[in-house]
Amino acid sequence: MTQGKFITLEGGEGAGKSTQVKRLADFLRTKGREVVQTREVGGSPAAEEIRTFWLLKGEGHWDPLSELFLIMAARREHLVKTVFPALARGAWVVCDRFVDSTRVYQGIAQGLGSTLVESVYRGVAPGFEADLTLLLDLPVETGLERMRARRGQDDRYQQKPVAFHQKLRDAYLDLARNHAQRFRVIDAAADADSVALDITRVVGERFGDL
Ligand SMILES: Nc1ncnc2c1ncn2[C@@H]1O[C@H](COP(=O)(O)OP(=O)(O)OP(=O)(O)O)[C@@H](O)[C@H]1O
Ligand SMILES: [Mg+2]
Repeated sequence: MTQGKFITLEGGEGAGKSTQVKRLADFLRTKGREVVQTREVGGSPAAEEIRTFWLLKGEGHWDPLSELFLIMAARREHLVKTVFPALARGAWVVCDRFVDSTRVYQGIAQGLGSTLVESVYRGVAPGFEADLTLLLDLPVETGLERMRARRGQDDRYQQKPVAFHQKLRDAYLDLARNHAQRFRVIDAAADADSVALDITRVVGERFGDL
């Protein structure tokens, strides 16, 4: 049986990940693929329960290390119950955030360090990485403006200073440079239609004729 493809979308607050995950999933379906559209933290029943519990309290409630383990527990559930079975039956999995978010938020911005994050992740899914990671990159202020316009949902990191978001952006761009085979950086400041078009072009280039 052909193995499916695992595509992750990453980027800071308001970059347009959720918007583009849906659009990419719809596009792949029009090409006749079975598509599983999913997200982290979440994506399986137990992982969604962890997400709800995690987001109950505002930013600063969790100790960063406790938060790392919560997120990794949810990731393990998501992989075992949703992602691995889908890939095994040949589906394309399009995921809104994955382990790069943990690398950047917990590892760099919250300061836990990449050695710790990588060693915990090795216990969760040794060597497992996306086939393609789309980094939706845009100026911090643009992302925050979009979030202010959409206030309310999951606004966990929005109260953080601009410097925190700048650190996230820089860390994402560093990751993309260091894993250039896996990453493609997308200009996410453009309008949603242009971004979607860019993404389908990149996906086509990466995987050949769909
Ligand atoms: N290219 C775009 N141009 C302008 N506005 C956009 C664009 N893409 C998404 N938006 C709007 O910006 C807001 C944030 O988009 P979206 O929720 O997709 O971002 P996100 O990266 O998933 O954010 P979060 O990190 O909070 O999950 C939404 O209100 C969405 O409608
Ligand atoms: Mg989102």
